[in-house]
Amino acid sequence: MKLSTLDSRRIYIEGKKLYTKSDTARSVYGEVTKKISGSYYRYWNPKRSKLSAAFIKGLKFFPFSETSNVLYLGASTGTTVSHLSDICVLGKIYAVELSYEPFTKLLSLAENRTNIYPILEDANLVERYSFFVENVDIIYQDISQRNQIQIFNNNADVFREARKALLVIKIRAISSRQNEEEILNKAISEIDDFRVIQKVNLVPYDKANYMLYLERK
Ligand SMILES: C[S@@+](CC[C@H](N)C(=O)[O-])C[C@H]1O[C@@H](n2cnc3c(N)ncnc32)[C@H](O)[C@@H]1O
Repeated sequence: MKLSTLDSRRIYIEGKKLYTKSDTARSVYGEVTKKISGSYYRYWNPKRSKLSAAFIKGLKFFPFSETSNVLYLGASTGTTVSHLSDICVLGKIYAVELSYEPFTKLLSLAENRTNIYPILEDANLVERYSFFVENVDIIYQDISQRNQIQIFNNNADVFREARKALLVIKIRAISSRQNEEEILNKAISEIDDFRVIQKVNLVPYDKANYMLYLERK
């Protein structure tokens, strides 16, 4: 991503710090908020969000716009979801999370934001939420499971209108022993219908995790 200061993507960049434009000064996960030119901006902490870390580590592509609809798999409490909600103000963030505990926080977040649609489901069972999810532009996945690539392929197969994706590869969820590079290459070779445009190693913000930017073949 080109680092400019204040841009039309609802992002503010200050050196290596990213902020997203928010409608309120309310903090979501303890992050600092600041007022710039009369608007509120929330610090996008790279230690808490792999997407912020990926941009700081040199991810060149920014597929999100104000109107993007995002299918987010592995939403947890909504840390990264909240920043996408700031950016895609006129779009929809379909946030799928399996565990009840983080989901309760995600629900509270969605109460204050009209563009977050929380879904308490297993991302392996696409048929349980596909009827509810419409016009996906971008798939974002951050799921720490051994079959993470299969989960991605299954969702990509159902939401065929999605042309772009961001996929976190969690190396140690696939194998705790094998060489990192080998696991990454094997995982990439198993991605069905998307090609890898860029891969970003998230160290030092995240160990043994990579962010892949993908486009449909
Ligand atoms: C590392 S956390 C995600 C953090 C989040 N992406 C963020 O940046 O704010 C991974 C989440 O995936 C969820 N998860 C694991 N397996 C899942 C599945 N099969 N379907 C949906 N969510 C799943 C976990 O419960 C966990 O909350």
